[in-house]
Amino acid sequence: MLNELLKRPVIPVIVIEDANDAEPLAEALLKGGMDVIEVTCRTAAAPEALARIKKSFPGMLLGAGTVVTPDQAKMCIDTGVSFGLAPGLNPDTVKFFQDHSTLFIPGVMTPSEIEKGLSLGLKMLKFFPAGAAGGVNMLKNLAAPYGPLGVKFCPTGGVNLDNMQEWLSQPVVSAIGGSWLATKQQIADKQWDVITDQVKAALAKAAE
Ligand code: 3PG
Repeated sequence: MLNELLKRPVIPVIVIEDANDAEPLAEALLKGGMDVIEVTCRTAAAPEALARIKKSFPGMLLGAGTVVTPDQAKMCIDTGVSFGLAPGLNPDTVKFFQDHSTLFIPGVMTPSEIEKGLSLGLKMLKFFPAGAAGGVNMLKNLAAPYGPLGVKFCPTGGVNLDNMQEWLSQPVVSAIGGSWLATKQQIADKQWDVITDQVKAALAKAAE
């Protein structure tokens, strides 16, 4: 699964309030060429949205974000997500995903957290909140000791169309995540064409 994810340099971070929006949202992303999605477990609608995308778009790489408890991890595994992410590193949640042989990418922002991840056997970590934690300069400093150990990062938080290339040009960056690709408001307003255009613009930049 990690290899599949590594083929997708841009991951849309989704906050969905109405599960009825799940299918048209997935269609809007696919229309723009994006077949990966991270549905955050921040809303009551998230479990149903995940289940609907899983059922209607089996070819999509379905991820769950903001998985901060083992209970949420169980829901994600039961739904059949392909991978999970979290803003922080909870060893219980990490273990739950590992026990179910499912890729999990917990968030880190300090050397000690990266080493905790390494001690749990993780090499792919989310750098969160990427912008506020010090931006590309902070990541470059973390890359010096941990890059040679094979650690890769998915920066999220403050990543956008204007700065995504700077992030993606870092050798330790495998992918970036961001909510700008389909904002909560755009989803609520059903601005599917706008979302498709944003996705196209991001993928074009990633390919440059
Ligand atoms: C996340 O959940 O990973 C972040 O909230 C996304 O951050 P962004 O809104 O700055 O893209």
